[in-house]
Amino acid sequence: MDKQNRQVVIAGNWKMNKNAAETTALLNEMTSIIKDADCKVLLCVPAINISTAVEAVKGSCIEIGAQNCHWATNGAFTGEISADMLKSFGIKYAIIGHSERRQYFGETDKTVNMRSLACLENGITPIICVGENLEEREKDITKDVIKTQIEAGLAGFTSEQLHNTIIAYEPVWAIGTGKTATAEQAEEVCAYIRQLLGEIFCPNCAKKVTIQYGGSMNASNAKELLSMPNIDGGLIGGASLKAVDFNTIVESAK
Ligand code: PGA
Repeated sequence: MDKQNRQVVIAGNWKMNKNAAETTALLNEMTSIIKDADCKVLLCVPAINISTAVEAVKGSCIEIGAQNCHWATNGAFTGEISADMLKSFGIKYAIIGHSERRQYFGETDKTVNMRSLACLENGITPIICVGENLEEREKDITKDVIKTQIEAGLAGFTSEQLHNTIIAYEPVWAIGTGKTATAEQAEEVCAYIRQLLGEIFCPNCAKKVTIQYGGSMNASNAKELLSMPNIDGGLIGGASLKAVDFNTIVESAK
């Protein structure tokens, strides 16, 4: 199975942006221009706006996702949200292990693994983020970093669970910096991730996995990045807050 047979997923990551009224306004704008998408279109909004967002995209081709998910079903975890809660709003995708969670909120490969397994057990596809920082790239240890994150993040996954997982390669130095990896740099690491998944699971299992690129993907560079053989979509921050730009990225996936 090659690229044409994998699901292309264009996912926006709104991070900590937009209040309830702004969420409805931006989603109304998005649903009016994003039509007949050829791929899965997803917007991962702040947890507090999930209910508002789900309502706003009803009847459109846009789906709403979450930006995090706790590993426990319920309990004394102040400030956290469970997979069961997400499921109760019909949420089917959650970003897990974003570099900002790793950097500012103590997320580790171990917690990424636990959160992802909780998602999978509840029918939610985790979008597991991996990526090296600038220092690691300059030291030429990008592949080692990715290998550790993939091996630990996906520890104990069955091949069925791998099939229901999305990997997002997001070089930390390219996030929110306007500094995109070149299509070749992004492809090199995405191909490596697929090779690694092939070694850990099986080559055929790896061929079915959607691997996204993220990090300053925008309306002008999306087409080139998305044309690469191992890049099956994008995880988009800044440009997913502008309806016209996000639509251009969705169109680029055609
Ligand atoms: P960016 O963010 O597109 O603004 O670089 C991407 C991400 O953090 O997922």
